[in-house]
Amino acid sequence: MTNPWWETAVVYQIYPRSFQDSDGDGIGDLDGIRSRLDYLVWLGIDAIWISPIYPSPMRDFGYDITDYCGIDKLFGTLDGFDALVAETHARGLKLVLDLVPNHTSSSHPWFVASRSSRSDPKRSWYIWRDPAPGGGPPNNWRSHFGGSAWSFDAATGQYYYHAYLAEQPDLDWRNSQVRAAMHDVMRFWLGRGVDGFRIDVIWHLVKDADFRDNPENPAWPPARPEIERLLAVHSADQPEVHEVIAELRRVAEEFGDRLLIGEIYLPLDRVVAYYGKSLDGVHLPFNFALLSTPWTARAVADVILAYEAALPQGGWPNWVLGNHDRPRVAARIGAAAARTAAMLLLTLRGTPTLYYGDELGIGHVEIPDALVQDPWGRREPGLGVGRDPSRTPMQWDASAFAGFSTRTPWLPLTEDHRSRNVASMREDSRSMLSLVRDLLAIRRARRSLAHGAFRLLEVRGDLLAYERSEGGEHTIVVLNFGASPTTWTLDPGPGRTEVLLSTSCGRAEEEAGPEIVLGPDEGAILAAK
Ligand code: NOJ
Ligand code: MG
Repeated sequence: MTNPWWETAVVYQIYPRSFQDSDGDGIGDLDGIRSRLDYLVWLGIDAIWISPIYPSPMRDFGYDITDYCGIDKLFGTLDGFDALVAETHARGLKLVLDLVPNHTSSSHPWFVASRSSRSDPKRSWYIWRDPAPGGGPPNNWRSHFGGSAWSFDAATGQYYYHAYLAEQPDLDWRNSQVRAAMHDVMRFWLGRGVDGFRIDVIWHLVKDADFRDNPENPAWPPARPEIERLLAVHSADQPEVHEVIAELRRVAEEFGDRLLIGEIYLPLDRVVAYYGKSLDGVHLPFNFALLSTPWTARAVADVILAYEAALPQGGWPNWVLGNHDRPRVAARIGAAAARTAAMLLLTLRGTPTLYYGDELGIGHVEIPDALVQDPWGRREPGLGVGRDPSRTPMQWDASAFAGFSTRTPWLPLTEDHRSRNVASMREDSRSMLSLVRDLLAIRRARRSLAHGAFRLLEVRGDLLAYERSEGGEHTIVVLNFGASPTTWTLDPGPGRTEVLLSTSCGRAEEEAGPEIVLGPDEGAILAAK
């Protein structure tokens, strides 16, 4: 039996506002993405996931949708979308869309109807509750972006629930009409040839039937975002969510080999429940562990082992190093470590998701207060939660606006954009871009990396070594997390190895003895003979 395409694929996340502008409005769009498909083929990824492109007031930059079956004018048209699908497929790439089923925009016609009166047929599509007995919100649940998660509608005298902005009311997934409507949304896009969905906040879909208060988080220091003040025991991750997800899976399967990825921020032992009891959940519950693991050999090894141990039989792993909600990896661990991190991401067992711009090593970008766009950053300033620094435009060349646009982009470029760009970096065989491309090429060429078994070889001080094997092919990855050189010896030695790639020296293909010396922050991929 052949493996499903997504097991050996590398997914590349595109934040559409920031990839390529084609019409000179300073905001990326679908025609822009289409014009860069050849770059993605050159880079060597297999699938693109595009963050939301549907009509939206853009209060949360597309995660607030007014029409699930359209394309926002800012991004293009349905015809343009169809052209993108066709051209993506013509290049042998897959295209995954973002599905945002937990909430709509407050301007969505469903919500407009729902709030119009208590007796409107759409009233029960959302979560309306009477004020608490003494007045005020029905319970203590907080919004992810700060403040109460309940907003009062004076005209009808009830509160509605929103896990995010007041402009993002939550749908009631216990309502079968809501579920059926969203299934039709999936069919609309799958029928147009989309290869799957990344499903937004999937662990939020079902809430406690009794809307009990969440308990206080005893570990909450006030310098942290307000959402961490309570433990989300009742507002998310309810057991009933898994039946709802199994239904989504059945819809996807009506169309054959389509992929469902679930966005889940939970501890790993809970994340793996989203594979479903009999693997009838999402194919890939996002594993975000690396986004917050301290960058040490021991901590990373522990995460790998814990994840491998927690995976259900037949559950295919996946790894993520960056996305549009979290600080860029190079900002968090530094430029040198970001190179070994890329080697880690692209050699672990499982489907990796690569965030656009991370192949250029884009680090922290300072966003002046006056330019802050992200609603979370605006509502809780000073806590470092603003997501704009991770959403700055892709940098293509050394021209004034980095080839992204012909005018000032919606968010600033990096200060070093005249050198940190695709055109310059592809000429340099030691650049981060060349490294990522080499990693993708080696992954493609070596079955053991794309699909082989994982075995931890050694964790010692700053050193982490592991082996990937399949059908007699063995690939060894050795990473130095530290600032001093370290030596690793193939055990049992003496064996023969060939260095295929080093993060410091590029592609080598040279014979090595059983002993490998790694410089600071150096990683190497070895073929074991
Ligand atoms: C998760 C998305 O990734 C994030 O960008 C968004 O703000 C929330 N979900 C709400 O949709
Ligand atoms: Mg544009």
